Amino acid sequence: MLDKRMQDAINDQINWELYSGYLYLSMAAQFSEMGMAGGQNWMTVQYQEELSHAQKMFDYVTTRGGRVTLEAIPKPQTEWAGGLDMFKEALAHEEGVTARIFDLASLALEIKDHATHNFLQYFIAEQVEEEESAGDMVQKFTMAGDQPGGLYQLDKELAARVFTPPAPAA
Ligand SMILES: [Fe+2]
Ligand SMILES: [Fe+2]
Repeated sequence: MLDKRMQDAINDQINWELYSGYLYLSMAAQFSEMGMAGGQNWMTVQYQEELSHAQKMFDYVTTRGGRVTLEAIPKPQTEWAGGLDMFKEALAHEEGVTARIFDLASLALEIKDHATHNFLQYFIAEQVEEEESAGDMVQKFTMAGDQPGGLYQLDKELAARVFTPPAPAA
């Protein structure tokens, strides 16, 4: 049975994963508006990843006999100056998510919930990738600057990203 404090903290993170998805879907809309179909695709894949994170946590809570309670999802920002701004925000957002996941892991250790601590290892590893991929895009958009040729090439690269669902929990 899941400790009430742990359950509440994971429920809060489920909401935050859904908000993350909402934020990236909002960025997908902005890329669409800018005529960058590749950027739209990248952000849509990111949105799908965040939904899968929320689902994974949902499944964990219910597997442990806990109760999932859903809260309102905050309204995301809807406009950015351009691709670089979006990826800078994505990077800052992911750094914040990493801190939240670390707090969850710390709580799990504090209450000696080793099952949850083990479950969270997936997200700890995932956050390393999340920060790396957003940081990589900040670098690339910085290099492309305002050059149409560079942005065109970059958009083609972003178009290649595909969503791979995470492996189901063992
Ligand atoms: Fe996530
Ligand atoms: Fe993320």
